[in-house]
Amino acid sequence: MQKKIIPEWISVGMLSERTGVSVSALHFYERKGLIKSHRNASNHRLYPKHVIRIVSLILVAQRTGFSLEDILSELAGLPNRTRVTLEDWEQLGSRWQSELDKKITQLTELRDMMTDCIGCGCLSLERCRLLNPYDELGEKGAGPRLMTE
Ligand code: FES
Repeated sequence: MQKKIIPEWISVGMLSERTGVSVSALHFYERKGLIKSHRNASNHRLYPKHVIRIVSLILVAQRTGFSLEDILSELAGLPNRTRVTLEDWEQLGSRWQSELDKKITQLTELRDMMTDCIGCGCLSLERCRLLNPYDELGEKGAGPRLMTE
């Protein structure tokens, strides 16, 4: 099978086709500042073909649980916003992996706390680590903290 050559500048339709992301989602990404297009003489949006890689990166980051704000901040930290190099990907991937490890640890702790609560149902601010982990609310003073914040 012959490899399809991608032109340097592509339409939103082609970007959608290449990434599997809907046109409306791509426009949303653009409004959020994650990707950028240029207008041609006919006032049509055109994206540099490197945006395909950026959209792919956004998809991976979203699947990993990062918010669009997190992703925007990560992309802003890249030396050259228009291209994502292998080095960029290695750095991002390594950072995201350690973030994922943290999330896995937190979720594992949460699951274990939930196991203690199943069948209890007290929802006590003093006893329930699920409702008040590490008595964080107690450190803020006496009284009904959940109701006032
Ligand atoms: S519901 Fe009782 S300890 Fe969490």
